[in-house]
Amino acid sequence: SPEETLYSRIGPATLHDLVTRFYGLVAQHPELIPIFPADLSLTARKQEAFLSGLLGGPPLYHQEFGPPRLRARHLPFEITPTRARAWLSCMNAAMRRTPDLKPEDAAELFAALTRTAAAMVNTPEPE
Ligand code: HEM
Repeated sequence: SPEETLYSRIGPATLHDLVTRFYGLVAQHPELIPIFPADLSLTARKQEAFLSGLLGGPPLYHQEFGPPRLRARHLPFEITPTRARAWLSCMNAAMRRTPDLKPEDAAELFAALTRTAAAMVNTPEPE
């Protein structure tokens, strides 16, 4: 139907599970640990709110935290191409561990996140 969105197909419970698994993996990734806070609970809440809007659901991030301006919000962190790949590999692993996420929905979500991740790169690879 025309009003069907990726958000409505995935559903809020599965989205929550995915984001929780994702930050569990981020917290263990050697490339990502140095730039993320030790306590990832607020980060996870913000990501879940952001993805809700990105996938065509309620714009929760905008409502609670204002305009996302994601690239600007990432500028304080050195995001190299290696870190973007690490972020996406955590997301890919989190997706594979979320059995309620249908493969075609996962593929569509991953394509959108791959584009967004590329736009967050703000630092060249270190020597
Ligand atoms: C925040 C890293 C890609 C969405 C953050 C933070 C870091 C980070 C270090 C700050 C955490 C905090 O202080 O709470 C990265 C890296 C990426 C990446 C290394 C690799 C390319 C993305 C992508 C999205 C995204 C693709 C969206 C699909 C967010 C959101 C926040 C955030 C919504 C919270 C912003 C806020 O403080 O309000 N990210 N990120 N990030 N990231 Fe990313």
